[in-house]
Amino acid sequence: MLILNIGQIATPTGKKAKKGLEMKELTLLSNAYIQIENGIIQQIGSMKELSSDFSGYQGQILDAGNQCAVPGFVDSHTHFVFGGYRAEEFIRRLEGASYMEIMNMGGGIMSTVRATREESAKELFLSGENRLNQMMKQGVTTVEGKSGYGLDLVTELKQLRVMKELDQKHPIDVISTFMGAHALSPDFKDKEEAYIKYLAEEVLPVVTQEALAEYCDIFCEEGVFSLEASAKMLLAGKKAGLHPRIHADEIVTFGGAELAVRIGAVSADHLLMISDEGIRQMAESDTVATLLPGTAFSLNKPYAPARKMIDAGCAVALASDLNPGSCFSYSIALLFALAAIQMKMTPEEALTAMTLNGAAALERAERIGSIEVGKQADICLLRFPDYRFLVYHTATNIVDKVIKKGMLIYDDKTGKIQ
Ligand code: NIG
Ligand code: FE
Repeated sequence: MLILNIGQIATPTGKKAKKGLEMKELTLLSNAYIQIENGIIQQIGSMKELSSDFSGYQGQILDAGNQCAVPGFVDSHTHFVFGGYRAEEFIRRLEGASYMEIMNMGGGIMSTVRATREESAKELFLSGENRLNQMMKQGVTTVEGKSGYGLDLVTELKQLRVMKELDQKHPIDVISTFMGAHALSPDFKDKEEAYIKYLAEEVLPVVTQEALAEYCDIFCEEGVFSLEASAKMLLAGKKAGLHPRIHADEIVTFGGAELAVRIGAVSADHLLMISDEGIRQMAESDTVATLLPGTAFSLNKPYAPARKMIDAGCAVALASDLNPGSCFSYSIALLFALAAIQMKMTPEEALTAMTLNGAAALERAERIGSIEVGKQADICLLRFPDYRFLVYHTATNIVDKVIKKGMLIYDDKTGKIQ
């Protein structure tokens, strides 16, 4: 494929996460072209350097009509495969109930666990596919998805197998995380240690044997899983070959960020309540700080201290946290708005966070996350010639075309997928 007349290419560059001040260094090229072969970017240049005769060109020619090209977005934290919905609970929260109150009364995650246990793999596949289609329309080309709405062997495997099938059948790449430790299973009431042991000894081996996940995650939080249990679970996962990531310091300051650094987690996520010491340690580590402002917005909580973290030298990524409870939104446009307006990230930092740093949070920064020669051609064309419209056109999806591995998979003009 040859993409011509690109108004502006706006991209971070490099093969690893950008930390601190580096996050705002974008490479910009106006009036440009991108040439792709076998799904890989072969050439990037100015239209002026290109001969105007394309008659001999074998591949597909796409006229970008002065649109801006940015890397495909990487949504590195979602729970997109789940059964049922929790609209009532959302309204109860609007009326004053807290997320943890609802969870402690048997609602919250447990409500989705009941629904997910009941649904067939086919039903979960269809709703998951639908959500992937919606995400794709917003420019997402790679998505991470977690299990954790089963909390038993059968349903955890069902969720992970559905994600594996979606990865194979849908143009978006799906990367799976085993999160059996999303909440204490009702079958193990008050028996945290026994539940972790069950997950480590009876569920993990099947997950790894079937190659159903790359990562292991846990909800490390007061009243959910303790620091000790979290360390145990993630180390068991690591031993079985699953790289650790963690839900940390979301509701209270708990030391989750420090634990993430100590065990070498790929990413620590949420971090609304991260301590200053946690920020300092994250900045010195290779652990990506994945911030999920859609969740803070939906729960009406203070945002993670993104500015402080970037100024301290952390690598910050942004992700949606799409799930049926704390954040039923996959809006990438909302993330850009919240990052810029509420978290004081610059448009450049937000773009890096949504692309290269998201890729780094999934250990794929060598292959995706930027528009550079040698990288996979995952590209979004925006309806405007300037990447800053991502924040300026507030909470509005401005993605016009999505290219995955050099193929046009979504075109807003026709609404056609693939
Ligand atoms: O990332 N924090 C824990 N887990 C999810 C919420 C899951 C749910 O409420 O269903 C999150 O916010
Ligand atoms: Fe989450």
